[in-house]
Amino acid sequence: MAPETSTEPTTQPTTDAGSAPGSAAGALTGTGIGIDIGGSGIKGAPVDLATGEFSGERIRIPTPQPSTPDAVSRVVKDIVDQISAQLPEGGAGIPVGITFPAVIQHGVARTAANVDKSWIDFDVATLMTAVTGHPVHVVNDADAAGIAEARYGAAKGVKGVVVLATLGTGIGTAVMVDGVLLPNTELGHLEVDGHDAETRASDAARERDDLSWSHWAKRLNRYFSSLEALLWPDLIVVGGGVSKKSEKFLPELSLRTPIVPAQLLNSAGIVGAAALASEQQRSSGS
Ligand code: BGC
Repeated sequence: MAPETSTEPTTQPTTDAGSAPGSAAGALTGTGIGIDIGGSGIKGAPVDLATGEFSGERIRIPTPQPSTPDAVSRVVKDIVDQISAQLPEGGAGIPVGITFPAVIQHGVARTAANVDKSWIDFDVATLMTAVTGHPVHVVNDADAAGIAEARYGAAKGVKGVVVLATLGTGIGTAVMVDGVLLPNTELGHLEVDGHDAETRASDAARERDDLSWSHWAKRLNRYFSSLEALLWPDLIVVGGGVSKKSEKFLPELSLRTPIVPAQLLNSAGIVGAAALASEQQRSSGS
């Protein structure tokens, strides 16, 4: 039986503007490179790590089909080369953060959503390090978006538990405590009313089932209620392209947790991956 729970709304999350919770040793500086691998496009840009803004041109190349490791890594090399050419000393030694729409355990893909199944159990980090010639950090796409919001966006400086959910083809999630990421949470696959949640509450499900905003909001409310009953977050951030239209559905939700739209939108994957790669390099002392 479900336990009785408080019906009081959670208090507003507290922020600490003076420090950057979670980052290895305070705020980042300098330039990073971020690459975002998606089912339809591979995007990249140089990132000003102090501000989280692009410091040069964003490049996008359609994802090759089939999206095999060989074909995708060629595109990634091409984009990294183009970005490096814009940077002083050809960007030598600058870490590259790469997002991937899959569970990534220590650089190895364990699942493959919307990309070729041959990636499963493939060491993405080793391949990308070899083809790009840069130190590489590979991260789940939603985890990168969560870190971007925590360092530069809607969850900047927020203390406690923050959940970011990207609503797109699927639902990706990032869970952070005081800005520190718990990787690969995969809460888009939470079972809600006997269904894999992302098949009912993703933006793709809204389009597929031709739902009105309020009908979709009911499904979202069900999903986020299940999530908050298990995690008790201090803040939920909603990402993905549809978060641009958050005024159409966020006001219809009735949750105990404060819920806000993401701020970085299209750039979140690139920016979060670049920040994580740089933090990783700094904490390993290289
Ligand atoms: C995958 C996640 C991914 C999300 C968004 C889900 O189907 O399981 O790994 O983060 O889609 O791309």
